[in-house]
Amino acid sequence: MQTQSLWEHTLTFFPQFLAALREQVSPDATIAVIGASDGKFVLPLAAAGYQVIAIERDPLALHGGDIQLPGDVRARALGLNDRLKVEQLDDRVQVVEEDFLQTDSHEAGCDAVWTSCSWHYSANHTHPLADFVTRMQRLIRPGGLFGAEFMMPVEERHHLIEHYTSPENLSRHFAHNWNIQLTLRTSEFAERAHVGQLHDHQHRMGLLLAARTSK
Ligand SMILES: C[S@@+](CC[C@H](N)C(=O)[O-])C[C@H]1O[C@@H](n2cnc3c(N)ncnc32)[C@H](O)[C@@H]1O
Repeated sequence: MQTQSLWEHTLTFFPQFLAALREQVSPDATIAVIGASDGKFVLPLAAAGYQVIAIERDPLALHGGDIQLPGDVRARALGLNDRLKVEQLDDRVQVVEEDFLQTDSHEAGCDAVWTSCSWHYSANHTHPLADFVTRMQRLIRPGGLFGAEFMMPVEERHHLIEHYTSPENLSRHFAHNWNIQLTLRTSEFAERAHVGQLHDHQHRMGLLLAARTSK
């Protein structure tokens, strides 16, 4: 790729999701990415041949602009739309600029849905975590795949916010018509400063992959 996501170097379980996609959905499947940001996952999915619906509410992530980087550095970032054009992937991606929790306009019937560390954003705390999770689930056709990586609690305040969850707690949102295929978690690890978190910090992350067995 000629362009890079601002999030390129943050830890991810995306390879596990991609491996499950390759086994379980067709090569031209439609994948929804919730909290698509500047396309760290949207671009590889499109480049792999999938049709992608990219949902993101942050205009800066979509249209680019001036950003603050660690070390008091200001820079001009490309947004998702420009990255897609440069990489000639825009014909495979539908970009939807909206708050995922504020709309019901999405068609069910996606082959898979993916989100990476999005629901813990404070703007989502006004809704129970279940709202975010069930909205994701509703997008997926029977036989399709749910994938989420998420922040687990590290700081004391995180334990008071259900959006910093664990694979066990998240599993409770999956009824009999779901088959949980894989859960993973990290221990606490140090991550270098990056956009959005301008100082080195500690994280703990989890992953849950589930297949929808029926309606
Ligand atoms: C941590 S960032 C994404 C980093 C990730 N590694 C990536 O590039 O996909 C999470 C993104 O989710 C978006 N987001 C969080 N809540 C959202 C919501 N309710 N609707 C749409 N986007 C949301 C944020 O604006 C942010 O761009």
